[in-house]
Amino acid sequence: MKNETIAIVGSTGKTGVRVLTQLQERGYATRGLSRNSEHPFDWGDRTTWKSALRGVHSAYVTYYPDLAVPQAENDMRAFVELAKSVGLQHIVLLSGRGEEGAQRAEELVKNSGLEWNIVRASWFMQNFSESFMLEGIQAGELILPEPKANEPFIDVDDIADVTVAALTRTDLRNQLLELTGPEILSFDNCIQLIAEGSKRSITFTTAPIAAYISAAKAEGLPEDIAWLINELFVNVLDGRNESTTDTVERVLGRPARRFLDYVKTTVPTGVWSTAN
Ligand SMILES: NC(=O)c1ccc[n+]([C@@H]2O[C@H](COP(=O)([O-])OP(=O)(O)OC[C@H]3O[C@@H](n4cnc5c(N)ncnc54)[C@H](OP(=O)(O)O)[C@@H]3O)[C@@H](O)[C@H]2O)c1
Repeated sequence: MKNETIAIVGSTGKTGVRVLTQLQERGYATRGLSRNSEHPFDWGDRTTWKSALRGVHSAYVTYYPDLAVPQAENDMRAFVELAKSVGLQHIVLLSGRGEEGAQRAEELVKNSGLEWNIVRASWFMQNFSESFMLEGIQAGELILPEPKANEPFIDVDDIADVTVAALTRTDLRNQLLELTGPEILSFDNCIQLIAEGSKRSITFTTAPIAAYISAAKAEGLPEDIAWLINELFVNVLDGRNESTTDTVERVLGRPARRFLDYVKTTVPTGVWSTAN
């Protein structure tokens, strides 16, 4: 089984790079896919998909920018059809918790006739260190639209561990794996823990969604990402996800990492120390 190629779509992303590294360390044949990989794969150019997936046995699929965007459903429908036509056997799809668009994409994978797993995750802790919140934290002031709810943030390392299990363990096939961290935190709680851990003063300020988006657009935020921020803060972050699951522990036999664990491992990387 180790010589059957596993493709990682989005192999340079937050989850993809961790999944790729673990599989390589364990001796699995892998093919990292993104727009600049040896076999280029671009969600925006379907002519790239076939050669990228030819000869692949299973695939970990991360969609960009997010399965919540309207285009995602059509792209996933076409992706599943192409995957079947090239003989791919098993898809592990990274999905977002409580997102209607993501759940439409999940159904396409579940009903594809292929073996499947859905890794349906809550908000990533690493959004604070490897994504859109980093710049504000480095500057000492994070400004976000008013969050209407708290969130059971999950460590991306836990997502990668569960994903690798789903790709390599046949006992987990055809299951929805809904992943959260072990505790429900506010954005304010998270910033306080990061400030204490990194011994810095960092403030958290909220802005009305319309003002936040128009200011961000004035600074060059693309339309589709503006749509996504609105969808996440207005529709998804409304309390529907204020609960935890025990899936990490059930699959891995150890508890999910706490936000404080994430802070302790991230502080020494220096990413929060100053603006770059
Ligand atoms: N952030 C969260 O809190 C959260 C929570 C739940 C679910 N999710 C899901 O996570 C997924 C994103 O996964 P991630 O965070 O691991 O990735 P990521 O860090 O956002 O990285 C994106 C990856 O996709 C590639 N990429 C960008 N544009 C592309 C395109 N047009 N065609 C093909 N590849 C492209 C990038 O590489 P190149 O730029 O080199 O092409 C990179 O490898 C989204 O679908 C989202 O729904 C996120």
